[in-house]
Amino acid sequence: MTTASDHVRLLRELRSVRRFTAEPVDQRVIDDLLDVVRWTGSSSNRQPWELVLVRNRETLAALATIGGGPGARHLADAALAFVLVMTGERTDFDAGRCVERILLALAAHGIGACVAGFSKPEQGAAVKDLLGVPAERTVRIAVSAGHPAGERAHLVSAERGVDTRLPLHAMKVGRKPVAELVHLERYGGR
Ligand SMILES: Cc1cc2nc3c(=O)[nH]c(=O)nc-3n(C[C@H](O)[C@H](O)[C@H](O)COP(=O)(O)O)c2cc1C
Repeated sequence: MTTASDHVRLLRELRSVRRFTAEPVDQRVIDDLLDVVRWTGSSSNRQPWELVLVRNRETLAALATIGGGPGARHLADAALAFVLVMTGERTDFDAGRCVERILLALAAHGIGACVAGFSKPEQGAAVKDLLGVPAERTVRIAVSAGHPAGERAHLVSAERGVDTRLPLHAMKVGRKPVAELVHLERYGGR
């Protein structure tokens, strides 16, 4: 029987995986994930999302090139990627919910994944061009996915460094203590 702690552990232990094996991801996992995305809540239930599922190796490599630098490399190595296509204004929160659920649904199936950001407008435009997405849509995020390449696959951020401004090994993998996170009753309350 699955307990509350099992669910909490899945949330707590979700880490980015950037190193994958060549094994394909089962269609059953993808169908499951699409159902999770379908049922994700959004502001006024607008469901302002669509996904482009990319498995073609050349397209994955092209996405990594558009992302630029080591932070996007995982797209080229992935079994597949989901490119999130958003419609309308002020959909960042909806996009965040959708992506987090993609990561969690994949993790529940033992599939590793990592977010890739296309933060510059020209990167989003290049991805739209590559995938034939209509110009009025917004593309800022993709998720790479695949079977994790070994037990240390989730540590590659620490090994390689995601932020190119940081030297190798300097990527922060820990977290702030709870005391720096929460304020009791009023800001500053301990
Ligand atoms: C909005 C957003 C954008 C991100 N963009 C990238 C990215 O472009 N490349 C990358 O390797 N990781 C990216 N990440 C993953 C973060 O680096 C990662 O979540 C963070 O370092 C914490 O590590 P963890 O996910 O293993 O706990 C992104 C995460 C978020 C939430």
